[in-house]
Amino acid sequence: MAPRRLVQVGIPEQFQAAPARAESFACIAAVPSGLEESAAAELAALGAQAVRPLRRAVALEADLACFYRLHLCARLPFRILRQLARFPCRSRQDLYAGVQQAADWQRWLPPETRFRVDSTGTAPGLSHSHYSALEVKNALVDWQRQHWGERSSVDLEDPDLALHLHLGGEGAVLSLDGSGGSLHRRGYRAAMGLAPLKENLAAGLVALTGWDGSVPLADPLCGSGTLLIEAACWALGRAPGVGRSFGFERWPDFDPLLWQQERQAALALDRCGQEQAAWEGRSLADGRPLAPIVGLEQEPAVLEQAKSNCQAAGVAGAIELQLGDCRDFQPPPGPGILVCNPPYGERLGQKDELEALYADLGAMVKQRCSGWTLWLLSGNPELTGALRMKASRRVPINNGGIDCRWLKYELR
Ligand SMILES: C[S@@+](CC[C@H](N)C(=O)[O-])C[C@H]1O[C@@H](n2cnc3c(N)ncnc32)[C@H](O)[C@@H]1O
Repeated sequence: MAPRRLVQVGIPEQFQAAPARAESFACIAAVPSGLEESAAAELAALGAQAVRPLRRAVALEADLACFYRLHLCARLPFRILRQLARFPCRSRQDLYAGVQQAADWQRWLPPETRFRVDSTGTAPGLSHSHYSALEVKNALVDWQRQHWGERSSVDLEDPDLALHLHLGGEGAVLSLDGSGGSLHRRGYRAAMGLAPLKENLAAGLVALTGWDGSVPLADPLCGSGTLLIEAACWALGRAPGVGRSFGFERWPDFDPLLWQQERQAALALDRCGQEQAAWEGRSLADGRPLAPIVGLEQEPAVLEQAKSNCQAAGVAGAIELQLGDCRDFQPPPGPGILVCNPPYGERLGQKDELEALYADLGAMVKQRCSGWTLWLLSGNPELTGALRMKASRRVPINNGGIDCRWLKYELR
């Protein structure tokens, strides 16, 4: 029987109590390259409408309740931009005039509001992002001076309002960034290990495996444990955003009651249990027990970091971590899913040693993990050749600027 997926279809019951807000707006979720389809499925499952995967992004529509929910619960986006206006832009003058008319600035940008502007893309006469962002800033502070005789200050570190301009195809889109700091920062990872994966990328890689929590999951080179922690949080319904604040909490249309309803609904999905001692009751959304999640790491200091990250994420009871070499890995009774992100030379390790490591890893899984599925993130095809295995799927993934493949191997 094919394993059931944990991805929920339709909005979870807990969220349906939230009153429907008729007014919805266009948004763009920025997501890691290679995870657009997975992110679109995740966002649609959380109630986003008109969802369309783009390149490194997903277009969607959301009302305020859904916008809050996406920030609380979505695991794959870096940030979610709420569109204020879209206008033609063929020159610096178009940009200046378009920005001044883009929104009710009396409401959104009174002079005591500190703001910042980021910019991407190009338009005729606007080929430098920094310059385009300055032009937006000038249009806004000029508008303020005309209306109030004073202007906002720019705050790059902790703005009340983070604006985002995207230029392209002779058009401009001016948006608000709801995140207040990239959503991949869940807050559990004080300890970073060696070359850690970003949390949202790790969550997306796990989603691609189709792991549903009912079979064992193992990472024999687990580093700071990001893949396993993201998997456990997902399986146990721990929403990534419940413990952090967001930029939209300082927006003039922030609705604290609606926010609390969404937050409570997200918390109600959490099956981690507050008490680590009461871990016995951990279970999946459908009541089945969560299968073992295990990790191995050879560096004692990195293993300690992984343990403290698991504690901070509240999933230490679900993940068993051991010190050891992946060559000695003993899988729990399976079959299950192996995930790993071995060093691939860009940042860590020497080529020869790494070739030997990949060859030994390939030999180990063939010998001990019959019936399992291995997913391996590689940034170096020469090294994956040393595994001496044939991938049944290759998903291109960008990992911090490195062109990688998330490779699937069926172990017979
Ligand atoms: C690229 S990092 C993994 C990062 C991890 N996915 C994370 O997000 O933190 C590779 C890890 O493999 C570990 N490693 C290297 N050789 C190993 C071996 N033979 N056995 C077990 N772990 C090993 C390294 O110490 C390092 O922590």
